[in-house]
Amino acid sequence: MTNHSIALIPGDGIGTEVLPAAREVLDSIGTRHGITFTYERYDWSCERYLRHGSMMPEDGLERLRRHDAILLGAVGYPGVPDHVSLWGLLIPIRRAFSQYVNLRPIRVFDGLPSPVRAAVTGEVDFVVVRENTEGEYSEIGGRMNRGLPGEMAVQQAVFTRAGVTRLLDYAFGLAERRGGPLTSATKSNGIVHTMPFWDELVAERGAAHPAVEWNQEHIDALAAKFVLDPARFDVVVASNLFGDILSDLAAAVAGGIGIAPSANLNPEGEHPSMFEPVHGSAPDIAGQGIANPIGAIWSAAMMLDHLGHPGAAAEITDAIARVLATTPVRTRDLGGSASTAEFTAEILRHL
Ligand code: NAD
Ligand code: IPM
Ligand code: MN
Repeated sequence: MTNHSIALIPGDGIGTEVLPAAREVLDSIGTRHGITFTYERYDWSCERYLRHGSMMPEDGLERLRRHDAILLGAVGYPGVPDHVSLWGLLIPIRRAFSQYVNLRPIRVFDGLPSPVRAAVTGEVDFVVVRENTEGEYSEIGGRMNRGLPGEMAVQQAVFTRAGVTRLLDYAFGLAERRGGPLTSATKSNGIVHTMPFWDELVAERGAAHPAVEWNQEHIDALAAKFVLDPARFDVVVASNLFGDILSDLAAAVAGGIGIAPSANLNPEGEHPSMFEPVHGSAPDIAGQGIANPIGAIWSAAMMLDHLGHPGAAAEITDAIARVLATTPVRTRDLGGSASTAEFTAEILRHL
């Protein structure tokens, strides 16, 4: 019997609806595989911010550090500025625990037609490897001359040799294991100063991984290729902001952002990693019980894989694939009428 200590942070909006679905699936698969979970649920959210003035307590990160992994729903809600919810919870977790790899796989499933004609079932199966702790998401910058004619905002992007190299080594290692090509998202025309540096480091790490065939594509053209020819990709490595945008685009190519999962990984295992759907708290549909739980359930599968249970993880993704391939049960975002609970029950039946 293996036991894992899991921090659950449902957060806000549909985060609180999809996380219980993921937990039910974990419990069910755990029973069959002799894996148990000790959960600790943290009500850290915008609601907490409105009551107590902070998204999490002062010792929040220390409390999370004791767990083997973190499963998060989503944070952000109207009435609380996004910079408060994000800098108060999500971003500090990614940074404090050095979760520098944000892994975002995408698949076009049988039975879930892509809105993109070129995306044929079974052929589109790739992963966006997003840099997750530096790049365009830096704390350096600010707003000046508020309300004056000379008002302006400045943002510094930070790319360090160490930070980019560790991410690239992870991405090239993944491409080696998957046996596919690696595509680097760039903007190397020299307009954006950071990108030629990124390109140099990609070439360096590419030389250190001779088995991997790699190339680079400008982010604008790459976005078009995601839509026109998504089957050609296997590992796509990108900076923080480019990876953020590409991963929602990839999710849309596969049918919708409700299905996309992510793993915020600290590959060395020195700190807990965090697993969360790619989507946000979706205030427009929150409270109705209709959110698509696939992104959260698939994220839980990625957590199991990370915790050393690849077989159990694959059973979860197989169950998602089977429900989509063999039943008409889908949530509304995918054209069905099932509630979150009904769809989750269908997954449990197919496990
Ligand atoms: P969003 O992902 O919350 O929603 C975008 C659209 O997709 C909405 O129409 C929504 O209804 C739909 N959608 C998203 N997930 C869905 C699901 N599981 N099932 C069905 N439909 C789904 O993005 P947004 O509107 O840009 O952001 C809303 C809030 O969430 C903001 O406060 C934002 O900062 C926050 N956010 C948080 C995270 C996170 O915590 N990791 C990620 C993204 C956005
Ligand atoms: C994501 C989200 C976050 C990000 C936001 C909410 C800060 O969009 O996880 O993709 O950009 O990293
Ligand atoms: Mn995003």
